Amino acid sequence: MKIKNICCIGAGYVGGPTMSVIAQHNPEIKVTVVDLNKERIDAWNDKNLNNLPIYEPGLIEVVSKARGRNLFFSNDIDGAIKESEMIFISVNTPTKTYGTGKGMAADLKYVELCARNIGKIAKSDKIVVEKSTLPVKTAESIQSILENAGSGVNFEILSNPEFLAEGTAMRDLAIPDRVLIGGNDKTEEGKKAIQALVDIYSSWVPKENILTTNVWSSELSKLTANAFLAQRISSINSLSELCERTGASIGEVSKAIGMDSRIGSKFLNASVGFGGSCFQKDILNLVYISRSLGLNEVAEYWNQVIVMNTHQRDRFAKNIIKNLYNTVSGKSIAIFGWAFKKDTNDSRESAAIYVADTLISEHAILNIYDPKVSSSQMIFDINYLNTRSEFENKKYLNIKSDPYKAVEGAHAVAILTEWDEFKTYNWKKIYQMMKKPAFIFDGRNILDKDHLEEIGFNYNSIG
Ligand code: NAD
Ligand code: UDX
Repeated sequence: MKIKNICCIGAGYVGGPTMSVIAQHNPEIKVTVVDLNKERIDAWNDKNLNNLPIYEPGLIEVVSKARGRNLFFSNDIDGAIKESEMIFISVNTPTKTYGTGKGMAADLKYVELCARNIGKIAKSDKIVVEKSTLPVKTAESIQSILENAGSGVNFEILSNPEFLAEGTAMRDLAIPDRVLIGGNDKTEEGKKAIQALVDIYSSWVPKENILTTNVWSSELSKLTANAFLAQRISSINSLSELCERTGASIGEVSKAIGMDSRIGSKFLNASVGFGGSCFQKDILNLVYISRSLGLNEVAEYWNQVIVMNTHQRDRFAKNIIKNLYNTVSGKSIAIFGWAFKKDTNDSRESAAIYVADTLISEHAILNIYDPKVSSSQMIFDINYLNTRSEFENKKYLNIKSDPYKAVEGAHAVAILTEWDEFKTYNWKKIYQMMKKPAFIFDGRNILDKDHLEEIGFNYNSIG
């Protein structure tokens, strides 16, 4: 089966970059990325490539070559569904904010809407690919919705979870550790569908890195991978607190254990806590599924990863307050970094939001600087927590486009994202501009302690 037209529903952080790379390596396939959000599609089509809706190093280069050739962004969802043989569902699957499973389960309403729409529109056979991260067994529901749509066409469901990390998405897509494809290899149609997707990836991914499994293993592997990665961060963060009490150094401990090839050195950087749209949501989902199946010990085990992350963010904020003589009321604090990690403009679930909220509750005045996150996004993030009124929040937030403006008269600088540019600042000049004693709270352990202490700073890091 040769695929000539692909449709991807959802032009977000996954749909946009993933389809750009598929289009880049398969110039004979027409790839159309569709979304309900007109503003987002307009931004993907903007002549000025600096206005693409997401910031990701290397994305502009790929989009500029493929867009208009075989890569298209459109709001015509039905048209793209009709003409394609393969449809990726790459819509958001946030944590439910209402009803049963509120605050835990994945909200699958957007996925279900896509399935119902595909069922209604399709006039020819389709391969439907789950690209969104979904609870194990979701493919069963999608299959049932499609089969009951009465269109009389055949649908094959594949699971093809995405493992890219933001900030390194283009590299992760170009040379993936593995591509995972879950499908039904018990039927001829199922086998053909799996092969069709394998063929698309084979145009740039070595065959040995393309893994095929049954659908349920594929769905569960995605949640498991995120749970394991997040668990490493919570594990090292839990020990950072022990280091602070004992005089051990978390950097030295990480290095020592990471050199054990059975443990490995990645994802052992202690921090103010993990953020991003995936880790918390996917673990909560795993906890919810386990509890629903009566596996309470399994649920509690994974829930502790979240508990530790919340504790890490919280104790970072409280440490600032404690060091600033137990009151930050009316004091200016410069916040460097709002994105949940460097090299992205995404701030979903960023630790910065929660640290800022705790400081605002203590009436600190925040001067925030981030190289990529917009001021409207920062204001949205704080207001979204609903801790106090928008009017009240406004009194405590000053968003700066120049980091040196953020430190004028500040009592402290808090580093909340590991942007490389923070390391290159003139810290001597910053010291001179701040109130004394001048504090630095480095939530990412990226600055040079000795250098800063020599300047005169009171430097605090994690662990
Ligand atoms: P996103 O919010 O950036 O994008 C989702 C897009 O889907 C939005 O633009 C939204 O308007 C659109 N959409 C929602 N319902 C729609 C519908 N019915 N029809 C058309 N468009 C619709 O989300 P994302 O970060 O790209 O994540 C998408 C999925 O991929 C999630 O399940 C997520 O867990 C998973 N994932 C994300 C990452 C990541 O790093 N962001 C990595 C791996 C997997
Ligand atoms: C994650 C997974 O890595 C990726 O495979 C999946 O597809 C989506 O979820 P992402 O959330 O984009 O990717 O970024 P990631 O690099 O995993 O970082 C997540 C958070 O953990 C960030 O806030 C980061 O700063 C933090 N982190 C990461 C640490 O605090 N310490 C580390 O050692 C690594």
